[in-house]
Parts: sequence; structure tokens; C-alpha cells
Amino acid sequence: MTLSIGTRVRFAVNGIPVGAEGPGSRRLLDVLRDDLGLTGTKEGCGEGECGACSVLLDGRVVNSCLVPIDQVEGCDVRTVEALSEDARLGLLRDAFLRSGAVQCGFCTPGMLASAAAFLGSGRKPSDENVREAIAGNICRCTGYTKIVEAIRVAAEDGEALDVSVAAAPAPDVAGSRAVVQAMPGLAPQRAPIPPAVDPARPNVVRPRTLDEALEALARDAHRPLAGGTDLMVALEAGVADSSVPLLDLWSLDELRGIAVVAAEDASGTPYLEIGALTTYADLRSSPIVQEHLPAFGAMAATVGAAQIQNRGTIGGNVVNASPAGDTLPLLLATDAVIVAASVRGTRPIRASGFWTGYRRTALAKDELVTRIRVPLPAGRPTRYRKVGTRRAQSIAKASVALSWRAGEDGAWRDVRVALGAVAERVIRAPRTEGLLEGARPSATLAGEAARLVVTEITPIDDVRSTAEYRRHVVGRVLRRMILDEIAGGPPAGEGLRR
Ligand SMILES: Cc1cc2nc3c(=O)[nH]c(=O)nc-3n(C[C@H](O)[C@H](O)[C@H](O)COP(=O)(O)OP(=O)(O)OC[C@H]3O[C@@H](n4cnc5c(N)ncnc54)[C@H](O)[C@@H]3O)c2cc1C
Ligand code: FES
Ligand code: FES
Repeated sequence: MTLSIGTRVRFAVNGIPVGAEGPGSRRLLDVLRDDLGLTGTKEGCGEGECGACSVLLDGRVVNSCLVPIDQVEGCDVRTVEALSEDARLGLLRDAFLRSGAVQCGFCTPGMLASAAAFLGSGRKPSDENVREAIAGNICRCTGYTKIVEAIRVAAEDGEALDVSVAAAPAPDVAGSRAVVQAMPGLAPQRAPIPPAVDPARPNVVRPRTLDEALEALARDAHRPLAGGTDLMVALEAGVADSSVPLLDLWSLDELRGIAVVAAEDASGTPYLEIGALTTYADLRSSPIVQEHLPAFGAMAATVGAAQIQNRGTIGGNVVNASPAGDTLPLLLATDAVIVAASVRGTRPIRASGFWTGYRRTALAKDELVTRIRVPLPAGRPTRYRKVGTRRAQSIAKASVALSWRAGEDGAWRDVRVALGAVAERVIRAPRTEGLLEGARPSATLAGEAARLVVTEITPIDDVRSTAEYRRHVVGRVLRRMILDEIAGGPPAGEGLRR
């Protein structure tokens, strides 16, 4: 189950079976550009921010700089070189040219990938939807208006066309580079160079089952790898120790899924069970989440942009333990339970005891997070709001989750206020909770809560914001959330405030 240097990962690029060699943590971007000569896919930031490296992976847009090649086994990759083969990309190319949406062209391949995924999604090509679809792609020439126009034109042109992605052929070839050169459709722009064997990139162990994963963790030191949107950035920056092999969980489908589970204890309270590998895209699109915990869907819509939402997982967010992580305040406010597993068995850890310090958790070295259980008591609304710099790719400057039980008299009971990015770890605000407890929400109370909550936080100045701004904004956001409830509930597009 170990992929070592020289091991071949087989997949299809633009419909053509190929193979790649090297450590499993090699970036898909490097394999496309260096091994296969497909230099249409660009490298900008190398850390998931700019979208220049976007490609379609099984029809979903991803940042190829954050995808380890190990996770591409058996997949279908589409790059800009497929313009003439992929109906969506062809439509978009023509529309981009007609609308004058290309200036220097550096962002164009990534824009086309995001736009192609959007066309395949069947979503209405409104200005807002198109802008959201390309929110993870930066155009340095700032030609957004024409790009949006081009995508709308292509969507209208393509309405009658079947623009679904063709299934990937079985990738069963032996000599990838020979095959690539033989296939005119792939059209590499320069001769492929030998595979880059980078000893600085850790190797990858790919278990087939959760039990195999737990056994590997119990035996040797491994670093779990889920969607890689934190870990691949840390490896690239040299922050993560590359001598520790990665334990790739991505293919463990038993760690996916969202379901409502009946109560197992005397409380009679059912819970929402979310597999650790559930992505933000899964949370956003889940009818179960929409029905039972819409705040989780609203939260997921504020994370990164499409490329990050397609890969980032709730388990990765929880274990990464950043105080700015978007799932953390919600899990604290809902009194969720994080289920940890090892060869010794499973144990539930309440969210209130899970984050023990700055980026530290109660997880033992041989444990994995397998599921997250969010209680679903009747009559308990939960809300989430985050403040970021812009609409997409915004790590929280501050975030607030609010949950309460609505009493028949209109008073709030069992109030929980959880705050992100304002202390070394995500925290509750007990004094503010005490103020709101048993009270009926009013404008006066909202103002008092806003003044009190800032006395419970210890924010710092950092690259994202200042302590002063964080103090100011947390009070204002909490006040606004309470006022919105008085007015009948959260506004449409609940989640992000700039
Ligand atoms: C451009 C960009 C934008 C982003 N925007 C946001 C944002 O808006 N909000 C936000 O909260 N985050 C954001 N992130 C951070 C990241 O996307 C999230 O934290 C994501 O949820 C991480 O999940 P992952 O599956 O990619 O984790 P990985 O990178 O695979 O892993 C993260 C950590 O968790 C560990 N791990 C993963 N799964 C498990 C498991 N099941 N058991 C034990 N350990 C595990 C890994 O060993 C690693 O230490 C952003 C990142 C980028 C690059
Ligand atoms: S190179 Fe910027 S997101 Fe990959
Ligand atoms: S066209 Fe120049 S970066 Fe977008």
C-alpha cells in the first residue's frame, strides 16, 4: 500500500491514459507541467490563493498545486489543452475571444477551468453566480467584467448543448510519456522532461480501509492527509516536516457522508453525523444540512472558493485547529462531539475539550478523527457569521456562532456564544451568555451584549487584522445577529460580512 519513488500513479489527462512517477505527495501541477509538458496550466502563488493552476478533476475545479498526485489515481483530469475536445472549454474559448476577456492571458487557463465547472453545474448564469464561480481565480489584469460577460455568453450558447464531462477511460498504459507524445489531442507545448524526483517531498501511504489506516498510525509516525488544502501549503512552505510519510485518507469512503442518526442515549436527541472527509462542497449541497443545520451550509459557502470547497474537509479543519477555522465556533456552539478512533477503539471528545491551545488538540498521535456528531435538539436555532476582507478566500478576521433554545415566552435559554480568531483558540463567551440567558432579545440587550463580549476576548494584531478592529467587529457582529433575530431571522446570504 506504500507508494514509493518510482511507483506509477495512473490516471487520464484530457481523456488520454497517463502515468506519473515519484513520491505520492508530488503536486499534480508539477506532473502536468514537468512530466507531461502541459504548460497551459500555470503556477502563480503555489498556495491555493490565485487559481492560476486550476484544472478539472473528475469534473470539479481544483487547485492542482494543492493536489498530491497520489489522490489522482484513476481520475479524469482536464486541462486547458483540452479546448478542442471538451465541449464546455470550446464554448468558453470562443466566448472569451468574442468578449475580449483575455488580456495577458496568465489567468485564462484557470478561469476556463472554473468556468467549465460552472457550466457543468447547471446553475443559473446570473452575475452573482458567475462571480462566485470564479472567486478563486485572480486576474492581475483585472478584466473581470469581460470575463463574467464571456462566461454568461458561453452559458447561454451552451444551454442546448450537453456539456457534461465524458467518463475517463480506464488508465491502463505502461509508458506515460510515450503515450502523451503519441496523442495529438493532448498537444503538449514542449517536450516532456524526465519526472522530477524530489526527495524533499514525503512519501505517501494509502490504506484501503480505516482499520489499515489505524494500524499504520499505531505502528509508525505518519501525518494524516485529507484534502491537503492546509497540509500541501505547509509542505510547500517547508513548515511541515517532510521526513514524515503521509497517511492518505482520501479514498476511505467510510469517512464520508452526512446522516441524521436517532438518539443513542437517554436524552432522546438525534444528531447529525458528518464523516471527517466531508467537504465544504458536500456540506453546501446537502439537503440534510439545509433542513437540519442550515448554518453549516452557510458557513461552508464562506470557506475559500470553489477550489477549496471541493477539497477541504471538516476533519482537516477540526484537526488543523486554527482559531480562525470556520467550523470550530459552530461545533463549539452546537456542543458537537468529535469522534476519535485508534487501534485501541473509539472515543467521543466534546468540542469544548477538543482544542487545547494554539493549533493544539486533545487527539493522541495514533488517533484519527472519523466523524463529527452535532446534536439536533428541537427548537434550537444556530447562526454563524464571519468577518473577512472580501467575499472569497477570506480567512476569518473574527467569527461568531450563536445558538439558543427558544422558550415559549420568547426568552432565550441555554445560550451559547462561540468566537473564532479572537484568542489563541476558539472560545465561548460565558459572561455574555449569562447576560442573554433567560432574556427576551431586544435592541437594548443587543447593545449590552456587544459591549460585554469585547471584554471576554484577547485578540492579537496579525497580518489579517488588528486587535482593535477585532474587538470592534465582534461586538458589532453579535449585536447585528441579535437584531436580525428580532427582525425575523438571518438575511439571505447569511455567513460572511466584509
Ligand atoms: C486558499 C485557501 C483558502 C482557505 N480558506 C479557508 C476558510 O475560509 N476557512 C477555513 O476555515 N479554512 C480555510 N482554509 C484552510 C483549509 O482549507 C481548511 O482548514 C480545510 O478544512 C482543511 O481540510 P483538508 O481536508 O484540506 O485538511 P488537510 O490539509 O489534509 O489536513 C489538515 C490537518 O489535519 C490533519 N487531518 C486531516 N484529516 C484528519 C483526520 N480525519 N484525522 C486526523 N487528522 C487529520 C492533517 O494531518 C493536517 O494536520 C483555506 C486554505 C486555503 C489554501
Ligand atoms: S498556483 Fe495559485 S492556486 Fe495554485
Ligand atoms: S488576463 Fe492577465 S491575469 Fe487575467
